[in-house]
Amino acid sequence: MTHEKAARPAPNLKFAHIGLVVADIDRMTRFYVDVLGFTVTDHGVFGEMRVAFMSRDPEEHHQIVLTTGRPPNLPANTINPDFGPVIQQISFKMGSLADLRDMRGRLEEGGATKLTAASHGNAWSVYAHDPEGNYIEFYVDTDWYADQPCYVPLDFSKTDEEITRETQAMCEASPGFKPVAQWRRDIAKVMAPPFRR
Ligand SMILES: [Fe+2]
Repeated sequence: MTHEKAARPAPNLKFAHIGLVVADIDRMTRFYVDVLGFTVTDHGVFGEMRVAFMSRDPEEHHQIVLTTGRPPNLPANTINPDFGPVIQQISFKMGSLADLRDMRGRLEEGGATKLTAASHGNAWSVYAHDPEGNYIEFYVDTDWYADQPCYVPLDFSKTDEEITRETQAMCEASPGFKPVAQWRRDIAKVMAPPFRR
């Protein structure tokens, strides 16, 4: 594994939100509110552009911003058209496999397309396209680290216990295997310090 460090101490920062340029802001807002449970914290017009701010965290005024102005014909990703041409994924952390199963059903009912599911060893993921083809991911961390990238299809007809057992065995077979708590302690030593308010 490679750990690159900045030449001088890093500034105090934390990744906080992303903005998406959209074609149909009403349809996209409905999807993120109805299916993902976001709250519109503010919306309005800025010049010619409509803007919608959304969050699921009272600590953050917005986690996703939608603005109008998306060109009608964006080129596809040149390697895998399921990924976007620029934004590869927008990912949401969940708490349990039950949450992931619930979200999978909501996505199906809510008009998402291209549903897939994978085990990465260190996480279980459900993937889909939002109404404008952005690749969205819902994932649950596991207790084990495996070398990445690691991707095997996830079969939701199996029980949580079967999925957990198989994932742990897969991780333990990885050359870089370690409990995720250990991985976090190790990576913390080479990362810039966490955000301080
Ligand atoms: Fe991801």
